[in-house]
Amino acid sequence: MNSSASPASRASSDRPRVFSGIQPSGAIHLGNYLGAVKNWVELQDDHDAVYCVVDLHALTLPKEAGEVSRGTIEIGRILLAAGLDPERCVFFVQSHVPAHAELGWLMQTMASFGELSRMTAFKDKSDRGGFVSSSLFSYPALQAADILLYDTDIVPVGDDQRQHIELSRDVATRFNSRYGETFVVPEHQIPSAGARIMDLQAPDTKMSKSLESPGTIGLLDPPKTIEKKIKRAVTDNDGEVRFDPDTKPGVSNLLDILAAASGGDPTDLAEKYTQYGPLKADVADAVMSFFEPIQQRHAALSDDDVIDALRLGADKAAAIADPVLARAYDAVGLLPRSR
Ligand code: TYM
Repeated sequence: MNSSASPASRASSDRPRVFSGIQPSGAIHLGNYLGAVKNWVELQDDHDAVYCVVDLHALTLPKEAGEVSRGTIEIGRILLAAGLDPERCVFFVQSHVPAHAELGWLMQTMASFGELSRMTAFKDKSDRGGFVSSSLFSYPALQAADILLYDTDIVPVGDDQRQHIELSRDVATRFNSRYGETFVVPEHQIPSAGARIMDLQAPDTKMSKSLESPGTIGLLDPPKTIEKKIKRAVTDNDGEVRFDPDTKPGVSNLLDILAAASGGDPTDLAEKYTQYGPLKADVADAVMSFFEPIQQRHAALSDDDVIDALRLGADKAAAIADPVLARAYDAVGLLPRSR
């Protein structure tokens, strides 16, 4: 049954493999863009890049029928507009490749109840009340499967995913030591600036697409709205432009956004400003220089463009993932259906 190459042989013969994913719930915001998507686009140049719309993960919180498929097309369109190029990366939907759900089950057998209980994302989401599904609890096991199915070397993500990637490493290592070398143990790649963009109205809270807030900048917000939201961003009363996230979270967030969007170090950038107004104006310009062309390309893409790209991507993804799933089943020693 095991006809797939070993993880070591793939890693040594190819460009480093990058894998990452995004949930199709809500609109992509500035945090998603600076923390993840901008880097995904850049990594296509010299990596073997695989990017996934994780629709099964979106179901871990209750959804109306049809909501996830609409969200998938919309997020697919934004990602294509942002620069994911189906000719240069594998871009697909998680549920189109059944190996994700199958390896997700195996990963549930490898992650302990204690490990999953310590995940802060689960604690945050379950504390919000409402229906807490068992899938919300086991979510990181499916995420580990996503990553391990592609013999992934590098996982480019924002800071909030750090704990989930650590867990993926732990379950891969545990599997390898119990059943023999099967999975590549991945590393996370978290940008030095933009890894944790905060809400502009509540700079002690992460900018989030699941929470409606005037402090969230949507990638498709009109330019005037973006300018207004940044102008109204919460700062503080001492009037000094300084990068100090603990005591000056609002100003530091603006400097971090500027550093992530235009390059440079937030502490150095702070020295250029003596007032908040000009800093906010430069942040708005830097954000719009990325978002305006994306918004134009977004308007030109149709649903069919997105669906066609995702269909092509699913075939390419399955061609990588299926042999890895077979390798894992073989390592565990499940009875093959046919010989
Ligand atoms: P998701 O959909 O919440 O977010 C997608 C990416 O955006 C980053 N991000 C941020 N970066 C900076 N500042 C913020 N305020 C901010 N908010 C979100 C996230 O870190 C992420 O990189 N569990 C994942 C999806 C997933 C995945 C995977 C990721 C499923 N399987 C395998 C990597 C590999 C999630 O919910 O991301």
